[in-house]
Amino acid sequence: MIYISPSLLAADFTKLGDEIKRIEDAGADYLHLDVMDGVFVPNISFGLPVIESLRAKSGLVFDVHLMITKPERYVERFADAGADIITFHYEACEDPAALIKKIKELNKKASISISPKTPADAVLPFLPELDMVLVMTVEPGFGGQSLIPETLEKVKIIRKVIDENGYNCNIQVDGGISEKNISLVTDAGANVIVAGTAVFKSPDPKKTISELKQ
Ligand code: DX5
Ligand code: ZN
Repeated sequence: MIYISPSLLAADFTKLGDEIKRIEDAGADYLHLDVMDGVFVPNISFGLPVIESLRAKSGLVFDVHLMITKPERYVERFADAGADIITFHYEACEDPAALIKKIKELNKKASISISPKTPADAVLPFLPELDMVLVMTVEPGFGGQSLIPETLEKVKIIRKVIDENGYNCNIQVDGGISEKNISLVTDAGANVIVAGTAVFKSPDPKKTISELKQ
């Protein structure tokens, strides 16, 4: 099953409530929420109060992508704000195993992300405990970039390990994905697809989401 998770970063920020209603009606499965702290990545986006306000407006799965240093400081507050899936960066965290445990104790889905330069090996030890792995297909920090094809090798490696061991773990990809190249990432083994620009900037998001799913 393929899940589409449109990234709010590409929405019109003057009318976020309407924007999420629009993509919910268009058939989105999740809502991808990119939180950036200006330290782990060279950009600042939005945070807790925005997520909390949107939570009251939407029944979508809130897929929160934390691009922040020392994410362990904040997971409790993102859980309270309404996150369903909490993704943190391997590169930003000192003790991934402890943080996975903490997220699961909060009854949220736990996910680790790796940036393009981090090898697939980094996440393999955590797969039995993880609900999802996010393989970044661009350098984190900005929407609207082009997919880095070399990152797909890592998706293939992780898919093989998950399938061989029967782990219950999704693979998400994020950055530069559209209806034109989605088959590259799904062929590699990804099944949760983030698409910001492709969905929010589409004149017909419903058509775009159904094309992505096909
Ligand atoms: C990048 C973010 C992505 C980004 C995707 O740091 O994690 O979620 O917004 O946007 P597009 O689909 O436009 O590349
Ligand atoms: Zn993201």
